[in-house]
Parts: sequence; C-alpha cells; structure tokens
Amino acid sequence: MTSRSAEPVTTGAPALEIQDVVAGYGGGDVLHGVTMQVYEGGITCVVGPNGAGKSTLLGTISGLLNPRLGRVSLRGERLSGKSPRQVLDMGVVLVPQNHSLFREMTVRENIVLGGYILRQRGLADRRLDSVLEMFPQVTEWLGKKAGSLSGGQQRLVEFARCLMLDPSLVILDEPSMGLSPKVLKSVFDAVRMMNKQGKTILLVEQNARAGLRLSTHGVVLENGRVRLAGSGSEVLHHPEIGALYLGGAVTAPPGSGTPGPDAPAAVPAAGAAAPDAGVAGSESAANGTAPR
Ligand SMILES: Nc1ncnc2c1ncn2[C@@H]1O[C@H](COP(=O)(O)OP(=O)(O)O)[C@@H](O)[C@H]1O
Ligand SMILES: [Mg+2]
Repeated sequence: MTSRSAEPVTTGAPALEIQDVVAGYGGGDVLHGVTMQVYEGGITCVVGPNGAGKSTLLGTISGLLNPRLGRVSLRGERLSGKSPRQVLDMGVVLVPQNHSLFREMTVRENIVLGGYILRQRGLADRRLDSVLEMFPQVTEWLGKKAGSLSGGQQRLVEFARCLMLDPSLVILDEPSMGLSPKVLKSVFDAVRMMNKQGKTILLVEQNARAGLRLSTHGVVLENGRVRLAGSGSEVLHHPEIGALYLGGAVTAPPGSGTPGPDAPAAVPAAGAAAPDAGVAGSESAANGTAPR
C-alpha cells in the first residue's frame, strides 16, 4: 500500500530524524526549529509556499549547509556536521531543484558521473546496468547530449544518475517543476517505482496535491516551521491546508476520491513529527480536531 490509502501508514521506523534544526545563510535563520521524520520505506512529501525553507531543509540534510542548532540523524548516526561527500557515502543522495545535468555531455556520461565516488570500475558498470533496468527508456538516450532531451526526460536521467550510488534515501527537490501534467505523471511514476524498489524518498513539491497523493507522509513547512505533519492523506485532506495551498478546485485523478468536509482531520504533527515545532496553539490539540 502506498500512495492512496487513507489508512495508517505501514512504513517502518524513522530513517531520518530532524530535530530542532535552526539553519540559514549569512543573513539570518531560515529554519526556525524544524522537527520532522522521514520514515523508512515511505515517501515523505514536504509542501509549503515559496521561500518557506524547503530547499534549505534539503541542503541541511545533504551536508551543503550546517545547522546552527539541532541535529539531523540517519538511523541513529549523526548526519549534521558531515560534508556532502560523507553524506553521499552514507547513502543519501539529493537531486537538486534546478536542472543539474551537464547539457553538453551525453546522457551516459552524466549518469556515470553519479557514480564518481565508486572506486571499483566493475561496480560502476554493474550499477549502470541495474539503473538502466529500472529506467529502460533511458537506454535509448544514452548517446544523446543531455541538453537535447525534454524536461521530463532530463528528470529521469537525473533520477538514474542518483541511483548509481544505490542510495537508501533519495531526496528530490521539486522534480515536477516546469513539467506539463502528462509528463509530471511519468516523473511521479518514476518516484513511486524507486520507492517500490526499496528507496526511502523525501520529496519536496510545489505541486502539493499531486505530491501528497503519492506520499505516505506529508509535512507542511511555513516560514521555516513545521505547520502540520501526518499521513499524506491527512495533510491532503486538512481543510485549512486545502484552502491555503491546494486551491479550491480539486483536480483529482480518477479513483483518488475527492477531499471533502468529512475528510479526517489532520493530526497535528502526531506520529510523524513532534508537535512543538512552531505549531500554533490551535494546531496542537492532541485530539486531532482541525481548526476551522
Ligand atoms: N544561498 C542563499 N543565500 C541566502 N539566502 C538564501 C539562499 N538560498 C535561499 N535563501 C533564502 O532562504 C529563504 C528560503 O529559501 P528556500 O529554502 O529556497 O525556500 P523554498 O525552497 O521553500 O522555496 C528565502 O528567503 C531565500 O531567499
Ligand atoms: Mg526550493
């Protein structure tokens, strides 16, 4: 059971734990005490307005940014304070928000670069084979320049590249950005497939409704704080969140059901994140009653 079930999520213990993280750039803090978890075997989707700090959060996890306070840990081992290279070695790979392929290089060269820290040549070759098994359509593009591919195709190549390290945690920053709805579906299918192949996924999505539908867990980040966390379905169906981020019009795909007023109220950060991370009083009611 993955994306569409409204039932309690059956993913495992937290793979990644983010505790009271305060982080930012020279000008000041962007994250003001973020606490959340990414569950083993699940897809956790972080949504929130532009500038909320979503990419900053991902940068903090992947070692690009050191948190000023707080801690990030992967299965009990500290991640914060490690270099990006060390984080990669621990099996955590980020596919960044902006197109990150070398346009003048071939698709094959780009993918092989994803395995640049692999010391054994033979291992890199085997990884390439298994990556192409997972994304057979990429095989046809191997000899093409990456810059000649469509946006959706480039996304798949970026996914293929990140899999060269056989990561246990794949972090995707707005993979659907700039894609048409049809292409978006193929990218989301690829995310689901990576998850089925055993990758734990942390996903940031502007396309909040589609992202949450795909996900076992959802987190709403607002002004560098966790506003709400719960199962993907709980966050998706939260009336306030719906009004704020998901728009009035529901563009539900067939069979996904339409969120309505009878939808389960979201659990404020319960089970998925600590409720103290900047959640306003009205949200912190333990009974899960949604504020209206
Ligand atoms: N490299 C940077 N240097 C300084 N400020 C930054 C940098 N990157 C992002 N910011 C600022 O941090 C805030 C959060 O940005 P970001 O994490 O990219 O938000 P989101 O991904 O949610 O849109 C914004 O105010 C942005 O201007
Ligand atoms: Mg961003």
